[in-house]
Amino acid sequence: MKIRKGKIEDLDTLEIISKEQFKVKKLQPKFKILLRDNSYHIQIIEEKGAVIGFIIIKFLYKNLIDIYSIAIKKEYQNRGYGYKLLSNTLKNFHKYKITLEVSEDNLAKKLYFKCGFKIDSVRKRYYGNKDAILMSFYKLEPGSEES
Ligand SMILES: CC(C)(COP(=O)(O)OP(=O)(O)OC[C@H]1O[C@@H](n2cnc3c(N)ncnc32)[C@H](O)[C@@H]1OP(=O)(O)O)[C@@H](O)C(=O)NCCC(=O)NCCS
Repeated sequence: MKIRKGKIEDLDTLEIISKEQFKVKKLQPKFKILLRDNSYHIQIIEEKGAVIGFIIIKFLYKNLIDIYSIAIKKEYQNRGYGYKLLSNTLKNFHKYKITLEVSEDNLAKKLYFKCGFKIDSVRKRYYGNKDAILMSFYKLEPGSEES
């Protein structure tokens, strides 16, 4: 297993995974644009040299980032890869406050709780008749409190 930065050469594979995992077009990340945009950061997870998933981070403001998207290929799901990918991001960006949004019925919610995210608020009926849950993770280091 290897986690590395996404490259333009990954474009086709990333689009395949995204189409497979996000049936709703609106949720499918536009990798062609994102890979060239400095306000986004794409990390890839590989198993035996094959790309099996991705996470996209959006830099929002100073020490604030958002988990824009995360997906693992169907046949590799529920085997700990999503956890490894997200934990790696939390470790790399430990000085940041990290936010995300997830539909109330998405099992990804369990992954976020497992990684230490807490619910900040709920947007009622944001996805049709489903609520959107807004979550965040912030691990302050001793003495690093904001003034
Ligand atoms: C969400 C996603 C990235 C999780 O990746 P994953 O590799 O399957 O997750 P993991 O195997 O690391 O599981 C981590 C935790 O999430 C939960 N989980 C993940 N998949 C689950 C499933 N199918 N059923 C029940 N719980 C599940 C479990 O609590 C699990 O922890 P546990 O095994 O200790 O119980 C993956 O399922 C995915 O690509 N989903 C489709 C795209 C998507 O919805 N992305 C999130 C948008 S907000």
